[in-house]
Amino acid sequence: MVGEPVNLNEFQELARQALPKMYYDFYAGGAEDQYTLEENMEAFRRIMIRPRVLVDVSRIDLSTYVLGYNISAPILIAPTSLHKLAHPEGEVVTARAAAACKTIMALSFTSSCTLEEVASSCNAVRFFQIYVYKRRDLSALLVQRAERNGYKALVLTADSPRVGRKEADIKNKMTLPKLKNTERFLSLEASSDNGSNLAAVAKETKDASFCWKDIEWLSTITNMPILIKGLLTREDAIKAVKVGVAGIVVSNHGGRQLDYAPATITVLEEVVQAVGGRIPVFFDGGVRRGTDVFKALALGAQAVLIGRPIIYGLAAKGEYGVRQVIQMLKDELELTMALSGCPSVKDITRRHVRTERERL
Ligand code: FNR
Repeated sequence: MVGEPVNLNEFQELARQALPKMYYDFYAGGAEDQYTLEENMEAFRRIMIRPRVLVDVSRIDLSTYVLGYNISAPILIAPTSLHKLAHPEGEVVTARAAAACKTIMALSFTSSCTLEEVASSCNAVRFFQIYVYKRRDLSALLVQRAERNGYKALVLTADSPRVGRKEADIKNKMTLPKLKNTERFLSLEASSDNGSNLAAVAKETKDASFCWKDIEWLSTITNMPILIKGLLTREDAIKAVKVGVAGIVVSNHGGRQLDYAPATITVLEEVVQAVGGRIPVFFDGGVRRGTDVFKALALGAQAVLIGRPIIYGLAAKGEYGVRQVIQMLKDELELTMALSGCPSVKDITRRHVRTERERL
C-alpha cells in the first residue's frame, strides 16, 4: 500500500488501486510489446546531468513562455482521452487543476467533456487537439467551435492515421461505459449539425489520407496557431517548418501507437537541430521526474507535456491529485535547477547534460 505519495510513480500505484482494471490498463498500457512505452522512461535514466556549482541559486524562477503565454513552469498537460473513466466529472476537473497551477491544458479530441464544458470551467489558456475526419466540413466545425470557445492553439496529432494495437485492451474487451447520453462521451458529438451519433461514426471516419499538403487547408480555416504533435525525425521536422506550423511536439503518443518507435528523449535533439530555432519544439513521453523535465529542456525542448501522471492524479485524488502531480514535478524541477546551478529556465543549456553518445 502506498501512503501519501511522494513522487509520480506512487500516483500510478494509487491510480491502479482506485480504478477498475480495464480502465487502469487502458490508461497505463502501450502498443504491442510495450517496448517504446518502457523505453520512453528508461532512456531518461541513461542521460546524466552535468551540474555547475557555486552559482547563486538563492532564487529559482521556473516560469516561462509558451506561444507567448506566460506559465508558471515548462510543464503542460498533454491531450489524453476519456478522463471520465478516471473521475465522474472528467476533463472539467483536470482543466480546473491546470488553471490553478497556471499552466496550459491541451484538451483531447476524444475528451469525455465537450470543449464548451471545459472552456466554461477553466479561465486559463487552453489548446485543442485534433484528428481530422474524412468529412472535412465536420472537422472545420470542430475547429471553429474550439476557436469560438477561446482555445488558443490547435494541436494536430500526426502519429495516428490508425489506432495502435494495445493488447491489454483487447484482452480486457475494453468498452466504454454506458452513459445516459453516450454521444456526449466524445467532444466531437457536438460538432454534428443534426445531433446524429457521430461518436460511433467518427471512429470509422478519421482521415488516414491526411498529409502534409492538407495542413495548408487546416490553416485556411483557423486563426489559431497549429502545432504538429507526433514527430520523431529530422525529415519530418524540416517539413513541419516548411509548411509553416507554429511548433512541434516531439512525441510517440506515450508508446501507444508504433511500437519500436524510438524513445522520444533520444530523438529530441535531432528534431531541435533540424528546426534550428525557427519554431519552438515541445516534448512528451515518459516524463516522471523533475530531472526528466530538466533533461528535455537541456536537449532543446521549450516545455514538456505530461500524459499519464495527470490521469493518475485525477483517478487517485481528483482535482487535488492533478495539482499535486504538477506541484511535485515543479518542486523536483526547482530542486534540480538549484543543484545544477540554473537559477532560471533559460540558464539550462545543452552543456548541462551528457547523453549516452558523449564521453565525459
Ligand atoms: C494519450 N495520448 C493522446 N494524444 C493525443 O494527441 N490525443 C489523444 O486523444 C490521446 N489520448 C491518450 C490517452 C491516453 C490514456 C494516454 C496515456 C495518452 C498521448 C499523450 O498526448 C502523450 O503523447 C503521452 O501520454 C505522453 O506520454 P506519457 O507522459 O503518458 O508518458
